[in-house]
Amino acid sequence: MKGKLITLEGIDGSGKSTVARKLQENPELLRLNPVFTREPTRGTLTGDAVEQAIQSDTDQLAELFLFTADHAEHLAKLVKPALEDGKAVISDRYSDSRYAYQGMTLKTRMENPLEWVRNLHRGWTVVPDLTFLFDIEPETAVERCGKRGEQTKFEKIEFLRGVREIFLKLAAKEPERFMIIDASKPQEAVERKVVEKLLEFLRQ
Ligand code: TMP
Repeated sequence: MKGKLITLEGIDGSGKSTVARKLQENPELLRLNPVFTREPTRGTLTGDAVEQAIQSDTDQLAELFLFTADHAEHLAKLVKPALEDGKAVISDRYSDSRYAYQGMTLKTRMENPLEWVRNLHRGWTVVPDLTFLFDIEPETAVERCGKRGEQTKFEKIEFLRGVREIFLKLAAKEPERFMIIDASKPQEAVERKVVEKLLEFLRQ
């Protein structure tokens, strides 16, 4: 595939989506004509199903399959065609969110959920070329979520602590793919750093 796949990951309240929105307004970046996208997808059958699952008491394994189905649809309809077209694809959340979040929600259901969920993706997913991990203490992140008034079942401190640990573990396993960003810094500084690294990466 000719294009480049860049993903933004982090716990809820890490400020990742705010930066993702800002990237879409950055003139230097826009000149490179990237495709901005996200998971869960929006306005799709699978994305709507995921949204309903998040808002309800859905079985965790069922939830994993819904998120994974949404990923398959996202890959087939948007990510792969854009990469084959030589485009840069920038996704707000992607497979690592599944490994980290469902790695936590399935903890009591199986012995090694992280490996299990990773195996479920093997052979058909596309591994990102670069992943920004917006790293932040769950306490700070939850405070931010609370201020936005949109706390969901995934936004509890203990849960997010586990999610963060898995993200950091994934980053330690693949240091060449991950770039860890200190998301506790002021938003402008975080944004500047991401833009700088992103442009450097896309121009190389
Ligand atoms: P969002 O806040 O980025 O829209 O994501 C919705 C929630 O879904 C968020 O709490 C993270 C969670 N999530 C998973 O649990 N697994 C996944 O695979 C994805 C993409 C998101």
